[in-house]
Amino acid sequence: MVQATPFLLVLFLALGAHGASVKKCNLDGRWVNDLGSNMTIFKVSETGNFTGIYYTAVAATPNEIKKSPLLGYQHLPNQKDQPTFGFTVNWTFSDSITVFTGQCFVDGSEDGKEKEILKTMWLLRSHANKLRNDWNATLVGYNNFTRLEKQ
Ligand code: BTN
Repeated sequence: MVQATPFLLVLFLALGAHGASVKKCNLDGRWVNDLGSNMTIFKVSETGNFTGIYYTAVAATPNEIKKSPLLGYQHLPNQKDQPTFGFTVNWTFSDSITVFTGQCFVDGSEDGKEKEILKTMWLLRSHANKLRNDWNATLVGYNNFTRLEKQ
């Protein structure tokens, strides 16, 4: 029993150290996705809501692309290190709305360095000029976001 104590102590410290090294995924900051779109998420509040700015690299409309506001929520109850979230982008240059839903992951698989990645799925709702044209007014897709490093 006496001999087991140092062993258990070492095991406890090793597990504790490993647990402490798991990086928490934070939504705030600047992100870029696989299409080249940029977004900035401002500070996530204590209740999980956040605002930001989205600058899309592509558009379904021929209008000139402009920065657009976003409004979202991060899941906070039973706070996890890799939280789920959702946000809406209200496009200022078109009549469309996009909703994104996703999860913030910490990926350590490449080169051993931990990198945050936002895995999202979106619905882009375009304006239909009449009910008959509603059937093809919604596009669906995926985007992965990675953190834009400070320059
Ligand atoms: C529009 O075309 O009416 C507004 C711009 C939509 C851009 C879409 S939203 C989903 C996808 N992900 C992006 O980063 N941009 C496109």
